Amino acid sequence: MTVPPVGIDSIAFYTSRYYVSMADLAARRGIDPHRLVDRLGQTEMAVPPPGEDIVTLGANAARQAISRVPAESITGLYLATESAIDQSKAAGIYIHRLLGLSPRCRVVEFKQACYGATGALVMAAAQVRQEPDARILVIAADVARYGLETPGETTQGAGAAAMLVTADPKVLALDPVGGYHTRDVMDFWRPTYRDEALVDGKASIRIYLQSLEASWTHYAERTGRTFADFHRFCYHLPFTRMGEMAHHHLARALGCHLTMTALAAQIADSLRYNRVVGNTYAASLYVALCSLLDHDRNLEGRRIGLFSYGSGCMAEFFSGVVQTGYDSALHTDWHRAMLADRTAITPRQYERWYNFQLPTDGSACEIPRHNTGHYRLTGIDSHQRRYE
Ligand code: HMG
Repeated sequence: MTVPPVGIDSIAFYTSRYYVSMADLAARRGIDPHRLVDRLGQTEMAVPPPGEDIVTLGANAARQAISRVPAESITGLYLATESAIDQSKAAGIYIHRLLGLSPRCRVVEFKQACYGATGALVMAAAQVRQEPDARILVIAADVARYGLETPGETTQGAGAAAMLVTADPKVLALDPVGGYHTRDVMDFWRPTYRDEALVDGKASIRIYLQSLEASWTHYAERTGRTFADFHRFCYHLPFTRMGEMAHHHLARALGCHLTMTALAAQIADSLRYNRVVGNTYAASLYVALCSLLDHDRNLEGRRIGLFSYGSGCMAEFFSGVVQTGYDSALHTDWHRAMLADRTAITPRQYERWYNFQLPTDGSACEIPRHNTGHYRLTGIDSHQRRYE
């Protein structure tokens, strides 16, 4: 009996309808804009308005990702986030209702910093291999949040990616074996009593690169593949320069002799969306994958390498083969229209929204209406979030 390939049948991402330009933010902070644009490789940063959270971001991405299949055919919804809105209830249950999914759908939340969605994807794929009729919606949704006027501030962002995992996928067949690496480190973390992440920025970059090498080594041992087996690479992107650093680091470590130009071409298309959105934590690698697929139409039959890093830390190098006819299964026009239709806000407006807080004493609060796509957090009452 031949086992059908398993992987991503549909993938879409969504980001806030508002952004702040890095040049404007640099001017407000009195820092040289070139340091941000050149050093981080970012030009714009998505800013969520009040009323946008991981539920609305995730529901908007998922609505698009499943727009070509009946909602009742989805058998599982795995949501990965590190911006949880509840210590107990899975945010995916709100999304389950907003999307009108069947009660016969397993919903659970995954967490391991920016790696969470990869954990969810690997487990969804394993389940579909066992049960080929299963259709699992994997959603990664996050709001990246550091302190105002800290070096982490300029690496914020907000967004979600949603993937439908099935047998006989139209977009990317996942290779069944990945290489992974876990280590107990404190490079980035957010205790449950804090809204902002704590980070040792320089250490986080060093550990990201070490984890990449260790994951690759495990992957290569398990698969026998070499760097030359890959046509394109996608990396977890806290900012786009990190992807460039990672790719050069891996190539050097493996003794690859490609020119700088050839190496740049292997990742350039994957960086485009992140540059104008910022870090979307768990979604970031999958926003990079959307970016690559939307911009390169010559990927049929090609193997893509993917590196997922979640601080703390857990990392995985895995891979997939782009399917014949993948371009007709993409959501490129929708992504382009969404990005083209965003509104620029001033740094002062960003700071006001950053400081907006929902009450924590049980009192009622109505959130003013902003553009949050098809879904909206309307407010909170008796500690219960209200969505429409
Ligand atoms: P840097 O090198 O310190 O920043 O951080 P810089 O070179 O852009 O800025 C240098 C100077 O400008 C410094 O002052 C900064 O304090 C200041 P100086 O020492 O020269 O006097 N400055 C600012 N001052 C006021 N307001 C600001 C501001 N920005 C800079 N807004 C770095 C660069 C990437 C380390 C930093 O941005 C950072 O810590 N980012 C977050 C961590 C990160 O992205 N790490 C990447 C690898 S870990 C990872 O990818 C996992 C992650 O996604 C989380 C997860 O897994 O969940 C983060």
